[in-house]
Amino acid sequence: MTRPTADLGTDLAGVTLPSPVLTAAGCGGTGRELEPYLDLSRLGAFTTRTLTLDRRPGAPTPRLVATPGGVLSDTGGQNPGIQGFLAAELPWLAQQGVRTIVSLAGLTLAEWAELARHAGAAPGVTAVEVELSGRYAGGPSLDLEPFGAAKAVHVVRREVPRGVPVLAKLTPGSQLVDVARAVVKEGADGLVVGHGVPALAFDPVTLTPLLGGGSPSLSGPAVLPVAVRAVAEVHAALPGVPVVGAGGVRTGADALQLLLAGAAAVAVGTALLADPGAPDRIADELAGLLAEHDLTRPADAVGLGHTVLEGEHA
Ligand SMILES: Cc1cc2nc3c(=O)[nH]c(=O)nc-3n(C[C@H](O)[C@H](O)[C@H](O)COP(=O)(O)O)c2cc1C
Repeated sequence: MTRPTADLGTDLAGVTLPSPVLTAAGCGGTGRELEPYLDLSRLGAFTTRTLTLDRRPGAPTPRLVATPGGVLSDTGGQNPGIQGFLAAELPWLAQQGVRTIVSLAGLTLAEWAELARHAGAAPGVTAVEVELSGRYAGGPSLDLEPFGAAKAVHVVRREVPRGVPVLAKLTPGSQLVDVARAVVKEGADGLVVGHGVPALAFDPVTLTPLLGGGSPSLSGPAVLPVAVRAVAEVHAALPGVPVVGAGGVRTGADALQLLLAGAAAVAVGTALLADPGAPDRIADELAGLLAEHDLTRPADAVGLGHTVLEGEHA
């Protein structure tokens, strides 16, 4: 007997996706690397690595190291630059029918505007992600204070055509909800909530940092509860705003947790490094779990955990 499964069709800020399982920025290479392992047309969407105006060579190697709770990484923002991406990578993604979210990071408002003009004018862009942590462009952490984040989002929203949603990516932190409110006020159509957590590790033999770059992040299983909490806080404050939950998703049960917290979709990052086919498996597991709970589609689970929380506090 086949087990019942739910239909995974998902609306994200007005765009219809076949699945709520996306790839997270920077973890799926150019997309070509995933193709042998993954049916890219089944992906909710593929997110590019963060693109800057100029191409970046990235941090010295090693850029990745395993830790007990996940992966410590520092890519130094390696990317081919927006023009290089548009010329050499986007056409292939569009040809495969991949829904592509283009992640951008500028250093100045003029740069944000130029990046957004290029991405917004390109055919085959499903959404634009505004990467506010500054880690990939080597700029200030705009997601730590509402004013800077709001200005960047305002400029990007102005340059990107209306039909292309602008998603602001936010790092969990004490200002998270204030920053979320500020970027939504300035036109963000949705939020990506969750990110790698700034982290560091030393080599006890050489007594030097384990990674050569200056700004490593911890991602993977250790950050899932951080992401669930962050999504829950944002959803409670802004229940109508679509959220993509990002952090530590490896299984359908992990994805379901983020939906219960209020995410409409989830992004899978570190799990791709060990298992590039993970999004297909996670989607199948999620469909099965939703059906087990008599939920007919992902939207039925979005924010459902809050009713339980509210019940407990009643
Ligand atoms: C190797 C690697 C590269 C990443 N590159 C980017 C990037 O270019 N832009 C970005 O916004 N996030 C980047 N991230 C962060 C992920 O998109 C994601 O937010 C974070 O890793 C948490 O999700 P995860 O635990 O599923 O990996 C990167 C993460 C890793 C591990």
